[in-house]
Amino acid sequence: SGPDTVSPTGQPTGADQARVAQSGAYLTNAQGTRLYDTDHSLKAGPRGPVLLQDHHLREKVMHFDHERIPERVVHARGAGAHGVFQSYGTAASVTKAGFLAADVETPVFTRFSTVVGSRGSSDTVRDTRGFATKFYTSEGVFDLVGNNIPVFFIQDAIKFPDVVHAAKPHPDREIPQAQSAHDTFWDFVSLHTEATHHTIFFMGDRGIPRSYRMMEGFGVHTFRLVNAAGETTLVKFHWKPKLGVHSLVWDEAQLINGVDPDFHRRDLADAIEAGAYPQWELGIQTFPDNPEQTFEGIDLLDPTNLVPEEMAPVQPVGLLTLNRNPSNFFAETEQVAFHVGHLVPGIDITDDPLLAGRLFSYLDTQITRLGGPNFPQLPVNRPQAPVNDMLRDGMHQTAVHRGVAPYRPNSLDGGCPFTAGAAEGAYVEVPVRVPEATKVREAPESFADHFSQPRRFWLSMSSVEREHIIGAYTFELGKCYEQAVRERTLQVLANIDPELCAGVAEGLGLPAPQPTVPLADVEPSPALSQVGRTWPTD
Ligand code: HEM
Repeated sequence: SGPDTVSPTGQPTGADQARVAQSGAYLTNAQGTRLYDTDHSLKAGPRGPVLLQDHHLREKVMHFDHERIPERVVHARGAGAHGVFQSYGTAASVTKAGFLAADVETPVFTRFSTVVGSRGSSDTVRDTRGFATKFYTSEGVFDLVGNNIPVFFIQDAIKFPDVVHAAKPHPDREIPQAQSAHDTFWDFVSLHTEATHHTIFFMGDRGIPRSYRMMEGFGVHTFRLVNAAGETTLVKFHWKPKLGVHSLVWDEAQLINGVDPDFHRRDLADAIEAGAYPQWELGIQTFPDNPEQTFEGIDLLDPTNLVPEEMAPVQPVGLLTLNRNPSNFFAETEQVAFHVGHLVPGIDITDDPLLAGRLFSYLDTQITRLGGPNFPQLPVNRPQAPVNDMLRDGMHQTAVHRGVAPYRPNSLDGGCPFTAGAAEGAYVEVPVRVPEATKVREAPESFADHFSQPRRFWLSMSSVEREHIIGAYTFELGKCYEQAVRERTLQVLANIDPELCAGVAEGLGLPAPQPTVPLADVEPSPALSQVGRTWPTD
């Protein structure tokens, strides 16, 4: 059975049963004992005190008291769906990953999210959107945990707690909810100019997508693919929506926030229920795996960089179709646990320092969020490849492991026979040469240019997109209390482009500063604009 067709108590939970959960002839307690009344507590007489001996009351209220689990520390609000991924086989020359071979169909679960707001926040706020997909491949689970913006705020995961502390509501008043319009956010991004590129992206139209179905997705980091001959290629992953890329305008987003805060999750669920299954093509940009890990002068290990599609076209490698709504939000969308370290043979990581920290963070947070180390056993997380591990016991262990010797070699349980190498299908890390180096806490010089790529973004925008960007910075900065934060941000904008800076300065009623760095001489990348996009290919 699939991951969501049978509940832990053996009750069917598939789509057909979703609305008839209590359809049996009688109710029971958690132990299966038949109940005659679940509506009145046991009392000493109809108007007398409730008795402590009412074990059904105690069980019912106890269970309710523990219904909530911690929300995700980021990306708390989201919506998910099941689907399939159909590979074209076009990536087979660069990766041996079985699910990317010709004509393979792989079940998937995708969760879209906002980043900053809490579980109950609104959908159409200005924010980055998460786009995470779990592929249940025959070689184990592969997770592509990306966003709808191709670059990230920071270059090193050690800054992640800092950027999230700045973006979340102020610690004193806990405002604003799910908005970037506040002092700590702008304080951070104006002091950490590496954030400039991501910030201008989500001040643009991608910060207010019209629908999850109409968003691009990006793996952001550079990954390393390896083929059957052991040859490696550096890649960036892209999702391209078949419906095209569309956004709301700010006034629409505001209105919808009030009228229907669930707009995006409703849109996704309604479309799937109506049979209008959303689709995305998965594509890759490929780069030669050179020791410097650069492409045309762009440092591929810097997650605040993108490679313009005009320089490295996105090549389609498969099609994602979301075709089934979850039947239980908590069991599936809330309990799904993505991790950038869930890799399959043929896909490896690079030395991007942001990716390195993520490789620790996801599993670590899930221990708290999902109550111990056994969350891979939850139906939505369960691999659809055979699992034969030596992980034992722990909170919420539901497997009944057989045998006495969960170690190898052993002489008691058949010795734990083991076929080891990549040739046998094992995940073997690419033996990348690590350069001789001295231990340091510092960023490479190639991470220092924070303005060329944001300038390319600005120059690539149509006039209406530029208007939106100026309007967004003006609105968001207008909500700040601190004048110094506004002024510092204007300085950042001056280093991107004088027209941008002048537009925002005028809106804020402040003088426009002069750039403090020479304006970069960069070509626009028309693919960055949502106007006149040439994708989808057909
Ligand atoms: C959650 C994307 C950077 C820590 C998520 C989710 C997405 C995502 C899509 C939501 C997953 C879901 O739907 O359940 C990204 C991208 C990043 C990035 C694209 C940069 C390229 C980081 C970094 C860290 C981090 C640097 C920490 C060092 C987390 C944590 C969660 C999360 C703790 C919550 C996971 C959970 O509770 O299951 N991220 N993230 N992320 N991210 Fe990231």
